[in-house]
Amino acid sequence: MQYKVIIPAAGSGSRMGAGFNKLFLKIMNSPIIELTLKVFGEDERCNEIILPIKESEQHFFHSLNLPSFIQNKITYVKGGSERQESVFNGLVSIKDTESLILVHDGARPFVTNEVIERILVKMNEHEAVICAVPMKDTIKKVIDGVVVETIDRSTLWGIQTPQAFTYKCLMEAHQKAIENGFLGTDDASLVEWNGSKVSVVNGDYNNIKVTTKEDLFFAETIYEQYRS
Ligand code: CTP
Ligand code: MG
Repeated sequence: MQYKVIIPAAGSGSRMGAGFNKLFLKIMNSPIIELTLKVFGEDERCNEIILPIKESEQHFFHSLNLPSFIQNKITYVKGGSERQESVFNGLVSIKDTESLILVHDGARPFVTNEVIERILVKMNEHEAVICAVPMKDTIKKVIDGVVVETIDRSTLWGIQTPQAFTYKCLMEAHQKAIENGFLGTDDASLVEWNGSKVSVVNGDYNNIKVTTKEDLFFAETIYEQYRS
């Protein structure tokens, strides 16, 4: 099953606190975004990578160390001020409206082919499929430093990317969200809000989103583990 992937890469990495886009940070010797692009670049089922980036960072993206067959798959589009806007700009650039669309955070370099495969298989019967892992911690709702509720952990999942959608399902959700000023932290939340069913498959605990400084330490460990 062929697909296109939108990889939003136009963030500023404020929680990382590096003072620049965290996707340029290196794990061992490779920038995070280079590792992410290689996963999809080397996947034969992926026929296009749409990369929303900041115009001011174009030079960096063009100088990544990627073989030409991967560079040739990439379509650069303008990023937005929110992740949602970056993804929407990517979506608008897609001409083939029959295409299956994956959205994947640029900051998740450890997504595996196994996870992608589970999502693609499930997409045979559904219009929206995301991957997730069961929560390990007990989750409580806390307001002003006081617990107001302990939520039943058996129903809680940590949501990751890739998230897959039919073009129509994702485009309709994004357009309605814009019309109504709805902002979600992932694409599935727009689709849920728009009334469509979102199915879940198992993700991978190693498929972390590199977000804060501590994550760089974990990222190096995961990278080493995958390499050996
Ligand atoms: N992203 C984007 N456009 C934005 C904001 C985020 O394309 N306006 C991308 C990021 O580059 C990242 C992905 O969305 O690959 C997930 O976002 P996140 O992990 O939150 O990255 P940042 O927004 O860069 O980090 P922070 O929220 O800490 O500032
Ligand atoms: Mg962000």
